[in-house]
Amino acid sequence: MTIAGRTLGSLLLFTVLLAAAPALAKTLVGALTAGAVASPDRFGALAARDALRKGGNAVDAAVATGFALAVTYPEAGNLGGGGFMTVYMDGKPYFLDYRERAPAAARADMYLNAAGDPDTALSLVGNLSAGVPGTVRGLYDAHQRFGKLSWKQDLAPAIALAKRGFRVPAALIAERDEAAPQFAKTTNFAAWAAPMRTGQLFRQPELAGVLQRIADQGADGFYKGPTADLVVAQMARGPIKGLITRADLAAYTAVWREPVVGQWRDFSLITAPPPSSGGIALLQMLQMKADAAPLFRGQMLNSPQYLHLLAEIEKRVFADRASYLGDPDFVKVPVAALIAPDYNARRAREIDPARPSATAGVVPGLEKPQTTHFSILDRWGNAVSNTYTLNGSFGAGVVVEGAGFLLNDEMDDFSAKPGAPNMFGVVGGAANAIAPGKRPLSSMTPTILLRNGRVAMVVGTPGGSRIFTSVFQVIVNAYDFHLPLKAAVAAPRYHHQLLPADTIFAEPYSPFPASLAAGLRTRGYKLVNQGYNGDIAAIEVAGRTPVVAPDPRARGFGLVVP
Ligand code: DON
Repeated sequence: MTIAGRTLGSLLLFTVLLAAAPALAKTLVGALTAGAVASPDRFGALAARDALRKGGNAVDAAVATGFALAVTYPEAGNLGGGGFMTVYMDGKPYFLDYRERAPAAARADMYLNAAGDPDTALSLVGNLSAGVPGTVRGLYDAHQRFGKLSWKQDLAPAIALAKRGFRVPAALIAERDEAAPQFAKTTNFAAWAAPMRTGQLFRQPELAGVLQRIADQGADGFYKGPTADLVVAQMARGPIKGLITRADLAAYTAVWREPVVGQWRDFSLITAPPPSSGGIALLQMLQMKADAAPLFRGQMLNSPQYLHLLAEIEKRVFADRASYLGDPDFVKVPVAALIAPDYNARRAREIDPARPSATAGVVPGLEKPQTTHFSILDRWGNAVSNTYTLNGSFGAGVVVEGAGFLLNDEMDDFSAKPGAPNMFGVVGGAANAIAPGKRPLSSMTPTILLRNGRVAMVVGTPGGSRIFTSVFQVIVNAYDFHLPLKAAVAAPRYHHQLLPADTIFAEPYSPFPASLAAGLRTRGYKLVNQGYNGDIAAIEVAGRTPVVAPDPRARGFGLVVP
């Protein structure tokens, strides 16, 4: 009996091992010494750490961080906004689009004044600037598909932070005070934000109530019932009425899309497809830089000639962006053509090494036609790269009364009028015109780099139109210039976006090298101070051990979780 029993036992064990072998093999291939999180604040990082320690995977940790930041990082973390999640799970790439959608009553000319010009007071502030939020549906769908912990476990840290309060960092007070004046006349922002004091506990009982409904009822706790009623009631308050209806909320869906996947050097990049322009733009920039290698040879990082060559690449990318990119459910975006190596090699040959190509001459090239990011890695080698946003800092400045969360002003990412710049100074045309149910074009670029099927880097940032140029710079700093991650993230960032013409945006670091300013002026550029740009949250894997490097520009926090 005993022997038989043992034999049976080991046979059973053997069978189970055999059955599990493919999954096991996959799991072991990516196994790391630790998981890691790079979050825009400490509370978000701790939420991820707790999920990873409980045996959750990268998606559980991302859901926990996403909800925690909706409590502690209200300028961009959100329930009332939307975003994108790039996932690498069990050796396969995925992309979840939970971008806001235009309400059914939205119209192409809804932000034009009597003279036919865009009125940014309407597209950036107040109820009318809000798209139908996607975050809760997105985090719910991600958890449904991949979560290992329970939904309630993933929401627990956020509920505790909202109920018990968190100590307000000085940086949040600075953000609040900077944003407040633009909301003063037309929204209820001041009343909500006034009780925050540096270092004091800030409790948000109404928000805790909404989070509890979401924990109990899933996404329906947001898109139906009392929370939906509160959002709809908010649309009728204040001087600017909004468009979001119960039907808009009930009809909101997130979409699993094919990520943009491309090769660069010995890396595979998994990155954002439309309705983001970011993944396409990032691949175009990396390819053009590689194609123009002879021009870049010997150029020091951030020398005048290096920045000129980058600007030449960027202006071509932005010309394509303005013409071809929009919501793929509404317009046909020629993704394959835009990231085709031949196409980018041809565009790279157009680079003028001596001086800026004339802005008007840089046309779309095909023959035919306060956001925040977190990066998470679990010890099984799965990764989540997630960027989500309210668009501007604190979004529309509208707090849903009784629910305690802010609504986005994402409608400004549409092209209100062909050729008219949005908040980030970028232009667009028909492909990004407003239509009911459509998603506005984004630049968000949550990206995962793989080397031999294993995660090498998880990276992303806020920054509007500067997002993909920032992600590009960090990748190139790390892999072309071999800087350690910390230095690759900290290095000064520059930006050019076709319009305004011949303008290079620089950060105000000091002392600003006089030779750089002079070198750029000689080449015909105007230098403009853009303030500090971006808040990169990056994890790099060296061997089997992750390294995190918070961006010194903000209050980011990284943790390695053994
Ligand atoms: O989707 C986009 O591209 C913008 N709404 C992102 C806004 C942003 O990054 C603001 N933060 N600086």
